[in-house]
Amino acid sequence: MDRTFAIIKPDAVAAGQAGQILGAIEAGGFIVRAMRMLKMSRTQAEGFYGVHRERPFFGSLVNFMTEGPVVVLALERENAVKAWRDLMGATNPANAAEGTIRKRFAASVERNCVHGSDAPETAAVELTFFFSASDLL
Ligand code: CMP
Repeated sequence: MDRTFAIIKPDAVAAGQAGQILGAIEAGGFIVRAMRMLKMSRTQAEGFYGVHRERPFFGSLVNFMTEGPVVVLALERENAVKAWRDLMGATNPANAAEGTIRKRFAASVERNCVHGSDAPETAAVELTFFFSASDLL
């Protein structure tokens, strides 16, 4: 079993889709190891997405991620990082496969309803960005 980090983003929370997305996560064989609802500060969003700082969409992404509450999750499963990326679907919902969460719920490449770590090393960093060690025991 290993772990990945997930966010249900402000678009999905505001649209009342968090429950359906959690249902899809559980149906996908993941155990929710930790979960919290919070409204990201600009400092948090800028830090979390720091690798994208030079991208043209960075400012807009930070505005989006701070516009309302999100749900942050620590998910556990065999091969968790890849399994969660597969269940989310492509970053751009226009390219996402049928049945994936982004195909079902996302509106655009930016407002794409969920986030997932892209590698086990990234998952370790992202999990500790939002959860303390005792949350993850
Ligand atoms: P996420 O998987 O959270 O990682 C980075 C986020 O940046 C991505 O989901 C989208 O919300 C956003 N993003 C990625 N590419 C673009 C793009 N071309 N235009 C606007 N937003 C983007």
